[in-house]
Amino acid sequence: MSEVIEKGALFELELELPNDKIAAATKRLVGFEVRYQRLHRDLRLLADPQELTEWCKEFHHKELPICAVVMERYPLVIFAGDVGTGKTATAEGACDRLARVRKKEAMLFKLSTRVRGSGKVGEMSTLLNEAFEVVAKQAGKTRQAFLIIDEADSLASTREMVQSHHEDKVAVNTIIQKVDDLRRHNGRILVFLCTNRGAALDPAIVRRAARTEEFNRPNDHEREELFRMDLEGLGVKDQIVHELVRLTGARDGQPGFTFSDLRSKLLPDALCRAFPSRALTGEDLLQAANDVRPSPMVKNGL
Ligand SMILES: Nc1ncnc2c1ncn2[C@@H]1O[C@H](COP(=O)(O)OP(=O)(O)O)[C@@H](O)[C@H]1O
Ligand SMILES: [Mg+2]
Repeated sequence: MSEVIEKGALFELELELPNDKIAAATKRLVGFEVRYQRLHRDLRLLADPQELTEWCKEFHHKELPICAVVMERYPLVIFAGDVGTGKTATAEGACDRLARVRKKEAMLFKLSTRVRGSGKVGEMSTLLNEAFEVVAKQAGKTRQAFLIIDEADSLASTREMVQSHHEDKVAVNTIIQKVDDLRRHNGRILVFLCTNRGAALDPAIVRRAARTEEFNRPNDHEREELFRMDLEGLGVKDQIVHELVRLTGARDGQPGFTFSDLRSKLLPDALCRAFPSRALTGEDLLQAANDVRPSPMVKNGL
């Protein structure tokens, strides 16, 4: 294994925003608009505290303590919830939207899980430091950088855990320190931390989050919306759609399907029953819904 990890390896994704591919994927996310409507003002405040100062001047004609309080928050948002409930996709979509709304050049970085390194002493914090440095440099250039720390529980698990290794503790301390530094960038860096195990995150990180969004498995309406969107053009009858919704809900002691169970397991399974020799039928979908199992619930939620 090489001693030096190249800069490129720090991030699994590094791209300019707005990005049309992300925008197209976001359009196909059930519930995104509702969630984004709820989130966007707050995200905007975090990404551009200057706007708040201007608002305060315009509508209150003086400095207000409430604005100072709001501006003191850390530009850190936590997305917590089960695997496959849309945390990563929503974080990417939200960054893209913010870049569009604010008409500012922006870069999106997604931290690679490779920053865990190979277990050498100090390696993980060195890589984390390097990653934040690259992001800070970029924020200086383009004025806005978004950083998604995905699967954050693998980096930022609570230091209280019995089996927590010294290396992991150092990494958590590094993240905390970096988050503390973020405020200096005046919103130019906004961090999204996604985790499947919110309760395992270190409390010092959770406490710093300006906002924590919970993600759940889709309810009946959301699964129906997904089926109607993804089965468009097949002429599937309402009755079949309703049965699919029932079969993919929580039942017989098993949890309901996640969004990714539906899209990456159930629908491909149904299609493979017909492909390549015949047309896809409602019966294929029902059989797939009966055969495919939802992924088990991740313990340690929020
Ligand atoms: N709200 C949603 N609507 C439709 N499909 C979704 C939604 N959220 C997630 N998915 C599907 O599940 C896949 C995995 O989502 P992802 O964001 O990676 O989940 P998580 O980060 O919570 O594990 C996505 O690529 C998408 O196909
Ligand atoms: Mg994810």
